[in-house]
Amino acid sequence: MKNKIIAGNWKMNKNQAEAEKLISALKPLVKDSKNTVIICTPYLDLEQAVCLTAGTNIHVGAQNCHWAESGAFTGEVAPSMLKEIGVEYVILGHSERRQYFGETNQTVNARMKAALEAGLKPIVCIGETLEERNSGRMQEVLATQIKEGFEGIDEEQLRRTIVAYEPIWAIGTGVTATNKQANEAIGFCRSQFEELYGKDEAQKLYIQYGGSMNAVNAAGLLNQPEIDGGLIGGASLDAEKFSAIVEAYKI
Ligand code: 13P
Repeated sequence: MKNKIIAGNWKMNKNQAEAEKLISALKPLVKDSKNTVIICTPYLDLEQAVCLTAGTNIHVGAQNCHWAESGAFTGEVAPSMLKEIGVEYVILGHSERRQYFGETNQTVNARMKAALEAGLKPIVCIGETLEERNSGRMQEVLATQIKEGFEGIDEEQLRRTIVAYEPIWAIGTGVTATNKQANEAIGFCRSQFEELYGKDEAQKLYIQYGGSMNAVNAAGLLNQPEIDGGLIGGASLDAEKFSAIVEAYKI
C-alpha cells in the first residue's frame, strides 16, 4: 500500500521571517503523518528551510533548476547548488513556467536529466488547458508532455521522479477537478507510463493531483485509487490548511 506524497508549492511567496513562522507552525502539525511531506520554497528560503526541518519528517524542494552544471546563464541556479545545501526535490515544468517563462517539454526534459544527475528528485508537472480539454485534446496533450518530457529517462531515474498532474484550469482558480476527472486523467497518464516503462514501473510511480486542492476537497481526491498525493499552491501557505491536507489521508 502506497502512502501519499503531499508537496506544497509556495510559488513566489514568503520572505525569510514568514517562512520561518510557517515552518515552525507546520512541524508539530504533521509530525505523526505517514505521508511524505515536502515544502517547495523560493530559492532564498531554501537554506533556512533545510536547517529548520533537519531531523523532522518535512522534506525540502526548489521550484526550478537549470540544465547546465555551471556557466553563463544569468539568473539561473544549477542542480548541484541545490543539492549542496541539502535540497532533495525540485519542481520542474510547472505550467506557470511553461506559460510565462517559455518552458517546453524539451527544456523540462533537459532540466530533469540534470536534476537527476545531481541526485535531486524531480516533481515533473504536466496538464492541459481548458481549451485543450474542451476540444477533446486532453489525452493528446498529456501523452505528448509525457513522451517528450521523459525522453531518455530510464527506469531507475523514473523511480526517483514524481509526476504532478495539474490541469491548468484548476490552478489558483478555486475550480478543482472532480474526484472522477482527476482520477481518470491520472489513470490515463499512468497508462502512458505503462507503455513506456511497463506495468510494474507505472504502478510504482507516484502521480499527484494539483489545482485548488484544499482541506475540504483533499480527502475525496486522495482516496481515489490513481491519485498518489497532491501538489498544493495557495493552501500550502497556511500551516493549518496545509496540515489538514496532509492529515486528510490516513494509511
Ligand atoms: P493552487 O493550489 O493554488 O491551485 O496551485 C496549484 C499549483 O499550481 C501547485 O503547483
